[in-house]
Amino acid sequence: LKTAVIYFSRTGHSQRIAEAVAENLGVEALNIKEKPYLNEVDLLYVVGGIYSSRSSPELQSYLMNIVTSSQVKQAVILTSCLSNSTKQHEIRAVLRMLGIDVDPDEFVCKGSFLFFGKGHPNDDDVNNAVAFSNRMLIKYSAS
Ligand SMILES: Cc1cc2nc3c(=O)[nH]c(=O)nc-3n(C[C@H](O)[C@H](O)[C@H](O)COP(=O)(O)O)c2cc1C
Repeated sequence: LKTAVIYFSRTGHSQRIAEAVAENLGVEALNIKEKPYLNEVDLLYVVGGIYSSRSSPELQSYLMNIVTSSQVKQAVILTSCLSNSTKQHEIRAVLRMLGIDVDPDEFVCKGSFLFFGKGHPNDDDVNNAVAFSNRMLIKYSAS
């Protein structure tokens, strides 16, 4: 199963999560700020945070401009946010619009902003993200 991990990160949390997930898969985490070329993959992990209740516009436009459904069979979303519950609805919508299947399950863990949520995502959050990515890998390897 060919995999890729892309992320957008304003304050480093998504980068940390993406790098842990990517290392576990044996791939490089791709920073969308660098407009990376995406090879054809079976499973794309999309990692990002929530800013003013939304997923990042940068991540949305990267997906819209660079990614096509012929490049990506399946996508999964991983999110960190202060609320510990806000999902990246905009990213899900963009992927669906591109004809890319997105797993209904989204990993969400706590982030932090200023002094709120200090210390998150922590090691447990990162380990949980890796465990989620492994479950998805097994799910889509079998199908
Ligand atoms: C400018 C800004 C706005 C944010 N707004 C929200 C928000 O509306 N809701 C929320 O739950 N978290 C919010 N957060 C917290 C981030 O979603 C959280 O810390 C996330 O882990 C950031 O990921 P990153 O470090 O990869 O950018 C905000 C953070 C920043 C920097």
